[in-house]
Amino acid sequence: MGYEHILVEIEPPIATVTLNRPKVLNALSPAVIGEVAAALGELEADDSVRAAVLTGGPKVFAAGADIQDMAKQTAVDQLLRDQTGRWAPLAGFKKPLIAAVNGYALGGGCEVALMCDLIVAGDTARLGQPEVNLGIIPGAGGTQRWPRTAGKHVAMEVMLTGAPVTAQRAYELGIVNKVVPAEMTIEVAKRIARELAAKPPLAVRLAKEAVLKAFEAPLSEGLAVERKSFYFLFATEDQKEGMHAFLEKRKGVFKGR
Ligand code: CAA
Repeated sequence: MGYEHILVEIEPPIATVTLNRPKVLNALSPAVIGEVAAALGELEADDSVRAAVLTGGPKVFAAGADIQDMAKQTAVDQLLRDQTGRWAPLAGFKKPLIAAVNGYALGGGCEVALMCDLIVAGDTARLGQPEVNLGIIPGAGGTQRWPRTAGKHVAMEVMLTGAPVTAQRAYELGIVNKVVPAEMTIEVAKRIARELAAKPPLAVRLAKEAVLKAFEAPLSEGLAVERKSFYFLFATEDQKEGMHAFLEKRKGVFKGR
């Protein structure tokens, strides 16, 4: 499928989705969100792809929702359009998704990075929620995902001041997994994606699902999900292969069956 605002590169077993509106710092218009959602739907269905990278390219991740577009909107327009709700395919993507963040990841841009499973940040990256300066608040998960990772007081600082944090501080807060020289960000994210793509896909998928459950459910429910997935994996060919490969001192080859 052809896209206007994003680039999709498939290099099995990984794929890279690049936001591509450089003139407006990859501002997230409804069209961009629609294209990202459609691309992730295609990648989810493509068995040759086992992990994906989402990036804004070498200079900027995304400066947030498109203010030009939002400035004209009424509350009813917002409700009917449900723009932030349209990120659901990203938050629910079943394969590993790694954000490669260079430059600004602000507002919706930061929230999109937080929806990914891992974040690799270039050393010049800045992550934040400046919505308060526009008279609004984050609408795509910022107020919920920041405190779950960085705690209440950091989340308050980020939401109330609107000031971004540096890549290094984000790393210290556990918001990003790695800080690398900016020119390496995408390559490092792809390297991690390839590493995850070589793992047993069903185990990866269920591990991801179980970790995400920890954000939603009480401990007993999360533990029950984990336990059932653990037992279920003994019904897979990949579990047999993984354990035999270990005992035979060779590298396992996994099929996702
Ligand atoms: N929407 C629309 N256009 C944007 C944009 C955005 N979010 N961010 C930047 N642009 C445009 C600018 O208007 C400018 O366009 P022109 O060249 O036509 O004037 C172009 O991109 C370059 O931007 P700047 O000249 O401002 O670049 P800078 O380097 O001086 O500053 C910046 C960079 C600090 C990121 C600044 O652009 C900025 O503050 N952007 C807005 C960030 C923001 O408030 N994001 C939150 C949006 S609300 C949201 O995301 C809600 C949600 O939770 C879903």
